[in-house]
Amino acid sequence: PTSQLVLGRVLHFLADPGEQDAADSYEYFPDGALWIVAGRIAAAGPRATVEAGIAPAERAAATVIDYGDRLILPGLVDTHCHYPQSAVIASFGRQLLDWLNDYTFPAETAFADPEVAARTADYFLDRLLAHGTTTAAVFSTVHAGSVDAFMAGAEKRRLRMLTGKVMMDRHAPPALCDTVADAERDCLALIERWHGKDRLRYCVTPRFAPTSTAAQLTLAGELYRSKPDLHVQSHLAENLDEIAWVKSLFPQARDYLDVYDRHGLLGPRSIYGHCIHLSPAEAARMAETGTAAAFCPTSNLFLGSGFFNHAAAVDGGIRVGLATDVGGGTSFSMLRTLDEAYKVSQVHRRPLPPLRAWFLATLGGAQALYLDEFIGNFAVGKEADFIVLDPRATPELDFRLEKTDELAATLFALMILGDERCVTATHVLGQKTGR
Ligand code: GUN
Ligand code: FE
Repeated sequence: PTSQLVLGRVLHFLADPGEQDAADSYEYFPDGALWIVAGRIAAAGPRATVEAGIAPAERAAATVIDYGDRLILPGLVDTHCHYPQSAVIASFGRQLLDWLNDYTFPAETAFADPEVAARTADYFLDRLLAHGTTTAAVFSTVHAGSVDAFMAGAEKRRLRMLTGKVMMDRHAPPALCDTVADAERDCLALIERWHGKDRLRYCVTPRFAPTSTAAQLTLAGELYRSKPDLHVQSHLAENLDEIAWVKSLFPQARDYLDVYDRHGLLGPRSIYGHCIHLSPAEAARMAETGTAAAFCPTSNLFLGSGFFNHAAAVDGGIRVGLATDVGGGTSFSMLRTLDEAYKVSQVHRRPLPPLRAWFLATLGGAQALYLDEFIGNFAVGKEADFIVLDPRATPELDFRLEKTDELAATLFALMILGDERCVTATHVLGQKTGR
């Protein structure tokens, strides 16, 4: 593949801008360029500077893509979602535990069929790309074949993706339950088959405390530590009935988080969805162990779960990523998700500023997943996953931005009014994807 020179308004983050738009936390090149060699960032900066660094012969052989005044950002990172729930979106009238029993578990049962899994994985991955998401932490189902289908689809598209088989050995329909022995056999085989292949990593995935026995959680903790770079994902403190249930199932545990802690499931590369109703002790323990939280505002509102306090979590030293939580969440779009994140932040009187919001959707997500050595911004050597956004893609955006092209105003309008119509292109390892 040839080298690429990509021109446009380049924006990326070096750190969390916080609530005061810290000037050294981001770089914005209004007349900017990315120089991409072998799918990696070789240079990013003002166009003139980038071009001056390229030898004439290299430049002559390169592909030039001019995106004009469109914004170029790193690919979006969805830190928590469920591909088998692609058709569960828009299921009426239930909160978490009833929603699982009445809609989600029946839908996941169909993934015993590898064809259902393959077709849904292809659909889900193509929708992610259409919405500008290039990396995600994804739940499969209890079926090993559901992981094979997703990993194969991600490998075919050369995506940096995480998934794992859901572990569930109680409190779910028999067709969705494994055992400790099944889970051990399947996870070991899947790790062997997929972990570290191309850009893929395996994520140990106990669904949540109520659906695993203590013995299965022990296995999950052992698997997490069994090879380098394995990840963990689960759910935590999403819903008050769920929390009461966990308390009754694990009476010896100090709190919900302690159930995971006792089984060795906290630490780097672990991430928990929701984390809405955390005690101060739980928040402190997450920060201390480097355990990340996935903020899922569309899901939290749709299921009536509550209002995650993003600003307080970050103040407390917790790594936070943004997530759609499809299909509890209602959109594949991280732009729609930022819109809802902003509204939730207003409930706490800590409005999410636009620079911080776009950090959260890019580098912040990469940091929450401990993948920032590979993705998340345009540092030299990183993998060239990026998106092109058109801030004038709709009449509403066009009208709103008629009198300004100021960066913060543009970013805020995009997150409040934008959706996949604003995603002009999604590039993976430099290559434009056919969406
Ligand atoms: N808690 C346990 N399983 C799930 C799930 O599939 N979705 C959500 N939102 N919460 C969960
Ligand atoms: Fe979830």
